[in-house]
Amino acid sequence: SAAEKEGHDWFMRKEIFEQPRAVADALLGRRDATGRLMLDEMRLSDQELRDIDKIIIIAAGTSFYAGMVAKYAIEHWTRVPVEVELASEFRYRDPILDYSTLVVAISQSGETADTLQAIRHARGQRSKVLAICNTNGSTIPRESDAVIYTHAGPEIAVASTKGFVTQLVACYLLALYLAQVKGTRYGDEITQIVNQLEAVPAQLQQVLDDAPAIYELARQHTGARSILFLGRHAGYPVALEGALKLKELAYLHAEGFAAGELKHGPIALIEEGLPVLCVVPPQGRDQLHDKMLSGIQEVRARGAKAICLAEEGDERVAPYADHVVRLPRVPVLLQPLLAVVPLQLFACELATVLGHDVDQPRNLAKSVTVE
Ligand code: G6P
Repeated sequence: SAAEKEGHDWFMRKEIFEQPRAVADALLGRRDATGRLMLDEMRLSDQELRDIDKIIIIAAGTSFYAGMVAKYAIEHWTRVPVEVELASEFRYRDPILDYSTLVVAISQSGETADTLQAIRHARGQRSKVLAICNTNGSTIPRESDAVIYTHAGPEIAVASTKGFVTQLVACYLLALYLAQVKGTRYGDEITQIVNQLEAVPAQLQQVLDDAPAIYELARQHTGARSILFLGRHAGYPVALEGALKLKELAYLHAEGFAAGELKHGPIALIEEGLPVLCVVPPQGRDQLHDKMLSGIQEVRARGAKAICLAEEGDERVAPYADHVVRLPRVPVLLQPLLAVVPLQLFACELATVLGHDVDQPRNLAKSVTVE
């Protein structure tokens, strides 16, 4: 009913707007009196965690893209090698697993059959399993050795939104927790990152306050036959997620690419007027930002329309962009938390204008309990 949607037309839109609160809840109570990070149900000892020498993240759909972001954070902060694998592919390739491998299963519902079968296989090989899940007491956390609940509250819309951003938060917390236990990062640095995370709810609110401009942009693209998404580093999974949302909700052909791969094939797709959404990394000491700008130049030179998500104060992007959507400033690893939101709003609005059922897209289920 309308009351349940709190005045929104769709549960999805309501859930998009709940993200500041969801992220705040996901961060609640994670530090003890001394400032040390804590996780919900950690049935693994510090020694067991110190023995972990490889992490394999398994997930499906949107949760898989959260896992891709997690790889960047975990490897950077802990120096433990991370693989990210689609749950449906995992056990059929005879993966290399043992007691020193930590398998991280990310699932909003906790009931996805592909993910469940994958963790059963991993535990059968003596690996430890940690679940990142939004649903208390669901099957995947019950069958895991440790759980981080995402505390997003019930997600009703089929397309995951607050589920995704809170999974990102849980992944960052896991990465920092491991860094704390393994001693790869010092307390001060961990505290600084947690403080940056705690600023995110207000920054998300800022992004949401600009929703009308995104809606206008979506309405300008109802005639598009295809939309491409480009990203680099942690922005690459965001590009994939932006494309997935358009497929799911607007039934529109959409693809995400790593910007550096453009020249190895996808650039052949570029034609006059093709909309290309570009997730521009923050301006940093590395060359990510420069490389992204040259990618944007390449597509634009071939007639594409560049819609750029870029941080406030990034003045270098404007000359290359047909349209700029501003994001509050955060470190590159945290940028997915903010950059995904305009893409959610864009897909939700585009699908609404096209007359589709945003909450219950054709052929999709919220939780797929068959393999
Ligand atoms: C289904 C849903 C997706 C979701 C995926 C994984 O395919 O339609 O929105 O991302 O399952 O779900 P999970 O509950 O495991 O995160």
